[in-house]
Amino acid sequence: MALKITVIGTGYLGATHAAAMAELGFEVLGVDVAQDKVDALSAGRVPMYEPGLEELLRRHVAGLPGASGRLRFTTSYDEAGEYGDVHFLCVNTPQKRGEYACDMSHVDSAVESLAPRLRRPALVVGKSTVPVGSAARLAARLAELAPVGADAELAWNPEFLREGFAVQDTLHPDRIVVGVAGERAEKLLREVYAAPLAEGTPFVVTDYPTAELVKTAANSFLATKISFINAMAEVCEAADGDVVRLAEAIGYDERIGRKFLRAGIGFGGGCLPKDIRAFMARAGELGADQALTFLREVDSINMRRRGHMVELARTAVGGGFLGKRVAVLGASFKPDSDDVRDSPALNVAGQIHLQGAQVTVYDPKAMDNARALFPTLSYAPSALEAAHGAHVVLHLTEWREFRELDPAALGEVVAERRVLDGRNALDPERWRETGWHFRTMGRPAA
Ligand code: UDX
Repeated sequence: MALKITVIGTGYLGATHAAAMAELGFEVLGVDVAQDKVDALSAGRVPMYEPGLEELLRRHVAGLPGASGRLRFTTSYDEAGEYGDVHFLCVNTPQKRGEYACDMSHVDSAVESLAPRLRRPALVVGKSTVPVGSAARLAARLAELAPVGADAELAWNPEFLREGFAVQDTLHPDRIVVGVAGERAEKLLREVYAAPLAEGTPFVVTDYPTAELVKTAANSFLATKISFINAMAEVCEAADGDVVRLAEAIGYDERIGRKFLRAGIGFGGGCLPKDIRAFMARAGELGADQALTFLREVDSINMRRRGHMVELARTAVGGGFLGKRVAVLGASFKPDSDDVRDSPALNVAGQIHLQGAQVTVYDPKAMDNARALFPTLSYAPSALEAAHGAHVVLHLTEWREFRELDPAALGEVVAERRVLDGRNALDPERWRETGWHFRTMGRPAA
């Protein structure tokens, strides 16, 4: 009989994973404590913007016309415990308030709620990003609480999906990593991932701590790569070099690679910033803090980028923000996402607003989320309207729509033709040709 799967936590990760598992042919029950999320998903609506996810969901949610019916959602742990052979934990692990460490309360409460309801053999598979050592602790807790005892097993299977590519990354991952304590867990996971494995996806089997560390190590490496190129941007600015050409040139070396070498206002989002901080905090608890002190530097290079953009904007408007109008293009932390968690773009917009400028923001998808987080900023329904009367235009999230803007048309509505590219994604020639004063990060001013 086909495996029955539950997915606990239906945010970016869980909603995508649940829909993907249904796509792969499994019967899936998505579980969330938030009734409104369950209602939205049950109606085939995705509560966030993620390309392709709503279509995938609608193909499978029970009760929708033409759907396979393999996917349902509930708030009931009783139902989940009874239903699943494999339970995926996909709840979020945000940064604790006022601390670097990660907040495990959602993972802990998911296990505390699910375990007492496991009355037949089941595999619980953690996907959330957690401090190393959590899986061993949760496995013990599971064995303690589950009526089936040792037949309730745990595995750790970190998730590497990128927002904006979540569906693709989930259906066709570039690797599958599983931390297991026994062969049964490995066998079950091979069954779950039979389709991607048949495509030749590498399958790495490890112990718990290694699997947990793979995720934090990968995100630390990516963060380091971005901060490295941003540090080079700082030096380029001091020495009149061009960081974009530098990144291209070093990127031809296969050992370095061209990806994740885009200098700009740095990384944000719900993962990289909090993951490197939680990693440092955990290493400290383990007495290995020295090993990760470089991540503190990675973090501070990254945060400095935001301040630097504010300074470039201040210079562009003549030295002071009072009475100046600033147009901000982009609010999400990256393109193709409406996620504004720790968004460099919104952070810069907020800082400039607090210093007295009239800031107007436009983003193709993240307007509602941005407004909820920063209600005091002004918002406009298009790039053109945001730019109206602006003394400087800031390009802070590299949506395709902004690359395709017509600089001449925008030039008609602004007070001054000054643009700052915080993502090194606009074509300087196109803007300069139409009389714009174009400045970007880590490249010569003219
Ligand atoms: C990241 C990891 O890539 C993913 O594997 C993990 O599962 C979750 O965290 P995500 O947060 O979706 O994914 O975004 P990512 O594409 O990694 O971008 C992170 C941030 O870095 C964004 O703010 C992006 O704008 C910035 N970035 C990325 C740069 O500033 N320069 C680059 O060259 C690349």
